[in-house]
Amino acid sequence: MAPIVALFLSSVLIFSVFSPVNSLSYNYYQKTCPHAESMIAYAVKTATSKDKTVPAALLRLHFHDCFIRGCDASVLLNSHGSNKAEKDGPPNLSLHALYVIDSAKKDLETWCPGVVSCADIVALAARDAVALSGGPSWDVPKGRKDGRTSKASETIKLPAPTFTISQLQQSFSQRGLSLDDLVALSGGHTLGFSHCSSFQNRIRNFNATHDVDPLINPSFAAKLKGVCPKNGKSKNAGTTMDPSSTTFDNTYFKLILQKKALFSSDQALLSNPKTKNLVKKFATSREAFSKAFVNSMIKMSSLTGGQEIRKNCRVVN
Ligand code: HEM
Ligand SMILES: *[C@@H]1O[C@H](CO)[C@@H](O)[C@H](O)[C@H]1NC(C)=O
Ligand SMILES: *[C@@H]1O[C@H](CO)[C@@H](O)[C@H](O)[C@H]1NC(C)=O
Repeated sequence: MAPIVALFLSSVLIFSVFSPVNSLSYNYYQKTCPHAESMIAYAVKTATSKDKTVPAALLRLHFHDCFIRGCDASVLLNSHGSNKAEKDGPPNLSLHALYVIDSAKKDLETWCPGVVSCADIVALAARDAVALSGGPSWDVPKGRKDGRTSKASETIKLPAPTFTISQLQQSFSQRGLSLDDLVALSGGHTLGFSHCSSFQNRIRNFNATHDVDPLINPSFAAKLKGVCPKNGKSKNAGTTMDPSSTTFDNTYFKLILQKKALFSSDQALLSNPKTKNLVKKFATSREAFSKAFVNSMIKMSSLTGGQEIRKNCRVVN
């Protein structure tokens, strides 16, 4: 009898620890804030009309949020006292446009105070950002809660651009995401900009035998060297992720096949037969990429972890 009771207890325990504490649903705000989604879409659209780099920033913001403590808007919290927050940690390069979330939150607090979480705003803004850039749109499950903890030291848990395929696979699988999700979500790099520091290692002093990463197309490497000054004089120097960096398309996958991906972690998608096949598939079919991207975004954005609905996205209640 004892082992059965133990089994029962441990399954109750496992259930309470791992079941989604905030279960998500598509009509979550239907009664409590029916215009939530249109208010968020408006904030994203207004900001984008003034600054074309906003959609990329919003997409990356959601990814960073979800990979640390689940999608709980921990990425938005300000540092306070001696606690240095995530957004002040090292991989925060090009995290920007946080003001768009604040602006949507301000509207929402006027119309339905205390109802819409910052984490849901970030998830919806990422969807709107993709759609506004010519990518797919989709229904986002809602009902995330905001977290109360944000630590700069935890940003080392984000995957690095120097990662190999097995490191990427591990980072994703720790969050319940597969190799299919890895390839589809890496396609987010069809939007945006990268600083030289994120790919510098590939174009100079690569290793003891190669100055330049042999996995980079030589003329592309030469171009990158031109963009990135030798002594890193300009901190802001860098390049767009792909030439159509404000359009959500499948160019990113075509570039990988031409050895013109920016990061080792992008190029690494060719070093495993399964991920390589997906890169080839997405390079030939924008539809196949869009479909897979939507599927994986919903998976990633369903990693929840918060406890409250913040009044101000930058501080806990
Ligand atoms: C697979 C692991 C990933 C790694 C190693 C990675 C790494 C990076 C790095 C190093 C940058 C450039 C930062 C800079 O120098 O400014 C960047 C930018 C970006 N990443 Fe990722 N990323 C990954 C996955 C993702 C995912 C899953 C998404 C979204 C679905 C995403 C969306 C973006 C976007 C949109 C930008 C451009 C940001 C901007 O222009 O403001 N990334 N990423
Ligand atoms: C990134 O961190 C630095 C300090 O490490 C900080 O000055 C900067 O404001 C942060 N960027 C954002 C977008 O918060
Ligand atoms: C340098 O990198 C290349 C390509 O990844 C590899 O073949 C070579 O063995 C490396 N050399 C050293 C000394 O690590």
